[in-house]
Amino acid sequence: MGAPTSLRLKSELLPGGLDQAIKHLSERIRSNPKDNFLEDLAQLGRLRQASMSNHRRSGAVFTPYAIAEEIVKFVDLRKGDTVCDPAVGPGVFLLAAAERKMQLGESVSSICATLRGVDLDPVSIEVARATLQLWAAWRGGVWPETDRLLVGDGLLDIPDEWHGTCDVVIGNPPYLGQLKAETTRSKRRAELLRQEFTSVYGTYIDESMLFLVKGTELASPSGRVALIIPASLAGSKSTQIAREWIDRKLPLQSIWVGGRSIFDIAAVDVVAPLLAGTTRDNCTVILRDPPSSVELSTPDPGCWSALLAGANDVPIIDLDKTYRVKDVAAVTADFRDAYYWLADRVVEGSSSDPRPKLATVGLIDPFLFMHGKITSRFAKQRFQYPVLEIEGNPPEAFQRWLDSKTAPKLLVATQTRIVECFADAQGRLLPSTPLLSVVPADAGVLWHLLAAIMSPPAAAWLIANAAGTGLSGETIRIRASLLSDLPLPEKSPAWDEGAALAQKLQEKQCHIDEFINFAELMNQAYNSTSEGLLTWWIDQIQKKLP
Ligand SMILES: C[S@@+](CC[C@H](N)C(=O)[O-])C[C@H]1O[C@@H](n2cnc3c(N)ncnc32)[C@H](O)[C@@H]1O
Repeated sequence: MGAPTSLRLKSELLPGGLDQAIKHLSERIRSNPKDNFLEDLAQLGRLRQASMSNHRRSGAVFTPYAIAEEIVKFVDLRKGDTVCDPAVGPGVFLLAAAERKMQLGESVSSICATLRGVDLDPVSIEVARATLQLWAAWRGGVWPETDRLLVGDGLLDIPDEWHGTCDVVIGNPPYLGQLKAETTRSKRRAELLRQEFTSVYGTYIDESMLFLVKGTELASPSGRVALIIPASLAGSKSTQIAREWIDRKLPLQSIWVGGRSIFDIAAVDVVAPLLAGTTRDNCTVILRDPPSSVELSTPDPGCWSALLAGANDVPIIDLDKTYRVKDVAAVTADFRDAYYWLADRVVEGSSSDPRPKLATVGLIDPFLFMHGKITSRFAKQRFQYPVLEIEGNPPEAFQRWLDSKTAPKLLVATQTRIVECFADAQGRLLPSTPLLSVVPADAGVLWHLLAAIMSPPAAAWLIANAAGTGLSGETIRIRASLLSDLPLPEKSPAWDEGAALAQKLQEKQCHIDEFINFAELMNQAYNSTSEGLLTWWIDQIQKKLP
């Protein structure tokens, strides 16, 4: 252990408290170099966080040191590795990497020469520099005068010579969703990113996914990338092309599931995909809480959510994709304006009310429409029998909407643990957003479609493609485009029988044996013979039965 040389800081950049804390820590290291200062060094990042006035705009949510340590182990950091964090913030990942390298026997001067970081925020870069300077001094070395901590854009400004030369890319890049006004990128930046990321770029792609793409470009031929990203990006449509592209360039080997509570100031479900080497037969899922790991077959390219589903015991299945829902039906989500229009027209009805019934997500269960059986909330009011009182001549746009909804259709809930679908055979129900409507071109296939969408293979397929996208860890969000892509079985007597039974399950109160019979028939229709699929589905559906 050595005593620190004098600090080289741009003190004028640092908020008062931080400047003082750094100087104080420097003194303590100088006088007691044998003490353990890791916690104190990591604390500088927390002080930087506390000094920020708006972390949301820049996605600056810093990672606890213990998590950075976990990721450093997960990525199998080795002696001599060049390490880069492209959105380095106050440097907690580089600190954890430095410490790990030291444990592996690397010299402090070698460690200092191998750490690279970029951040848009000059203050955070200065905190990272101070942290690493102090670490080097504490560990008996000297942080180099010219280091590789740069103020700049980690997606656009990384030096050419860093590309293809980083053995490890780690970090927790900013999560900047493009559906929130506060974090939407400017037109100019969108244009620059489109030029940089060409076909992988999409208007709605979260910046953290672009960092993952950038990570694969920075990685050396034997490099490894592990960046923490929101779990929803493992299955979201806006990142599908990027995931497929990444799997071709540096395939997914393993995924670390961090859960929802790793950050002090934000609750978001996160994962860290580990990208490296070439495609293997299996991928490992590492769960943090409670700690466990599971080995699963490598999913189709880009289908990372299948691993999250698999880790939750959802059977992994492969379906023939010759026929899809979109070949026989239109799947639509309703538009917001329809909601506002409906809001003024929903009134309390009665059990025998002839007016069209309102359908909300809360009222749709598997094979069930709970109208009148439970109360539902709509436009901040509670109803037992919500019905619609519609004037003689509605505005044209809404008349068109009404016409499209008064057809036989299926209604599918969008935030669910298991698929929840009900057939509106008479076309008497009016759905409110975010319910999905599935309107078959030929009403004669309605019960066949209900059977397919409610089948065990469809449930496993939808969950595998959407795990991580729900509002909570246990739910999925079924998008219209995903439901459109759901594979359908080939015509068969098993499907015909399954359709007849699906109608019976909806229209009569049935014993569990008939649900089992339905599941067996539809597994047969889909050529899915897995015993695990049947027991898993029965288990799930039983939780939803009245
Ligand atoms: C989620 S924080 C994480 C910081 C650090 N890796 C950690 O985990 O503590 C994201 C960081 O990215 C920075 N940032 C935002 N957009 C950036 C960009 N385009 N390029 C580089 N850094 C960026 C923010 O200033 C912030 O420091």
